[in-house]
Amino acid sequence: MLTQIEELDQQSQQDLSTLTSAADLEQFRIKYLGAKGAVKLLMGQLKNVPKEIKPQFGKQANELRQKLTQAYEQQKATLGDAKSSKGPAFDITEPGLDPQLGRQHVITQTIDELIEVFGRMGFDAVTGPEVEDEYHNFVALNIPKEHPARDPLDNFYLEDPLGDTINPHLLRSQTSTVQIRVMESTEPPVRVVSIGRVYRPDEHDATHYSMFHQIEGLYVDRKVSMVDLKTTLIQFAHAFFGAEAEVRLTPSYFPFTEPSAELYIKMNIRDKWEWVEIGGCGLVDPNVFEAAGYDPQEWSGFAFGLGIERIAMRKYGISDIRWLFENDVRFLKQL
Ligand code: DAH
Repeated sequence: MLTQIEELDQQSQQDLSTLTSAADLEQFRIKYLGAKGAVKLLMGQLKNVPKEIKPQFGKQANELRQKLTQAYEQQKATLGDAKSSKGPAFDITEPGLDPQLGRQHVITQTIDELIEVFGRMGFDAVTGPEVEDEYHNFVALNIPKEHPARDPLDNFYLEDPLGDTINPHLLRSQTSTVQIRVMESTEPPVRVVSIGRVYRPDEHDATHYSMFHQIEGLYVDRKVSMVDLKTTLIQFAHAFFGAEAEVRLTPSYFPFTEPSAELYIKMNIRDKWEWVEIGGCGLVDPNVFEAAGYDPQEWSGFAFGLGIERIAMRKYGISDIRWLFENDVRFLKQL
């Protein structure tokens, strides 16, 4: 009975030496290691083996099975397995695949660039909370109770666990809140930009999204004028959109600045020069200084608030804001 194992061993070694393809190997597997293969049959015979040689038979049969399994695995690595390919496992002469490198999101790239440009002009980057109270989002910014910007339907008000109805919280609707927070905690002069998310319950379409980013600038010193504001914005436009970009301010109204202006930049969009409105600005209203604890007789300043998505979309020729947040890698990879 033991010679049967030896014979099987010899025969399998001979078969092994003639394998040349994955298909041969598969035949080999079926013949020896398959569900009805020789090794299975051998194991099945164990119950008929005389008691004296049973342990030895079992041991040798097991060893043979291990040996053949190992040989099969080894051959599979060079010949490949029949199910996945007809040829060898892989062709080592084929050129490799390019490694897939990650990249920064276009909004992150834009934010970094803005911080860099304003940093060169001496502005520090600061942050403020996204969950704000009504005081910092509206009251201190000179936005009165009846102002439409405070309409609950135009804001994400939060339910206050303590039932604070005097100063309820909301997701901030503008980064102007950070002007107040900075002035509350620092002595003038001040030169900061604050970049972050803001939230408004807008229907999503090509130009609206319920979350977007703004950059807020605040400059406070003695005798700050509209000239300082415009000069700063021109510097920014040149650094960010190129030396030929132009800046235009048109009269406007914001509760926290007086006078106020809308900011237009003439930028090159796919070889065409266009005026694009990218935000608002003005000289800080004395009421805002008073709310934040600065003496409006002594200090003056300018502020501006720009939409980051708007800037990035113009710069990179993106026509739908939703693409920025769907995170389709095929889109993001191009930027
Ligand atoms: N907070 C304004 C908005 O969200 C933008 C803005 C306008 C900010 C004028 C300013 C400013 O600092 O001076 O629409």
